[in-house]
Amino acid sequence: MNEFIKALQFRHACKLFDEKRKIPKKEFGVILEAARLSPSSFGLEPWRFLVIENDKVKKALSAACWNQPQVTTCSHFVILLSRKPQFFKKGSEYLDEAFNRSTKDEKSLETVEKAFDNFIKKDLGTNIKNWAKMQVYLASANMMSAAAFIGIDSCPMEGFNAKALRKALVQNVPSFEKKSYDIAYAVAFGYRTNGQSGKIRWPLEKIATFVK
Ligand SMILES: Cc1cc2nc3c(=O)[nH]c(=O)nc-3n(C[C@H](O)[C@H](O)[C@H](O)COP(=O)(O)O)c2cc1C
Repeated sequence: MNEFIKALQFRHACKLFDEKRKIPKKEFGVILEAARLSPSSFGLEPWRFLVIENDKVKKALSAACWNQPQVTTCSHFVILLSRKPQFFKKGSEYLDEAFNRSTKDEKSLETVEKAFDNFIKKDLGTNIKNWAKMQVYLASANMMSAAAFIGIDSCPMEGFNAKALRKALVQNVPSFEKKSYDIAYAVAFGYRTNGQSGKIRWPLEKIATFVK
């Protein structure tokens, strides 16, 4: 079987991690690099990854995450944050800095900023907050696939009360920049304690249509 597909078969939503096993720094670096290299709309990378290794902090966040045991048993609990809508306003410092990385001069910067502004005002089929969160989901998929490729388990987690989690972050994580970021969702990383159950997936013919 193809090595990448093997990794995707290995990945599952791990419900309980081995509390004693911590992910080595170098290997977690691979997971973060997979996030960093992820694609994003207009190349804006509107994300930040809050990597929680501290057990006390994990415990403090647990109730807001429905007390799911993944939070307290994992090695690294990552809260994936997305940039707040104000950063995507035309002429914002953030947009200038982001687009400046790929534009050659003032005129091309203006062109791309105008195109982006048109996109979010006219063509985007959702609000800007949801759009930023969508970018973050892409990065998380890469993180989980990269983790699986090197034998590390994960669990994507939307099972939390967003308001309560935000409050818990404000109270327990001073580095959380609440004015700049929304919580998109979370992923726990670590090593499984139990075997995984079989994959339940639709057959290919139910989900793919070829137009030749
Ligand atoms: C966005 C998202 C949120 C999820 N939230 C949770 C969660 O809070 N708790 C949990 O145990 N699993 C969660 N899952 C895992 C899914 O239930 C799981 O991926 C799906 O049932 C398929 O199983 P598999 O990932 O083991 O193949 C989530 C998955 C996604 C993609």
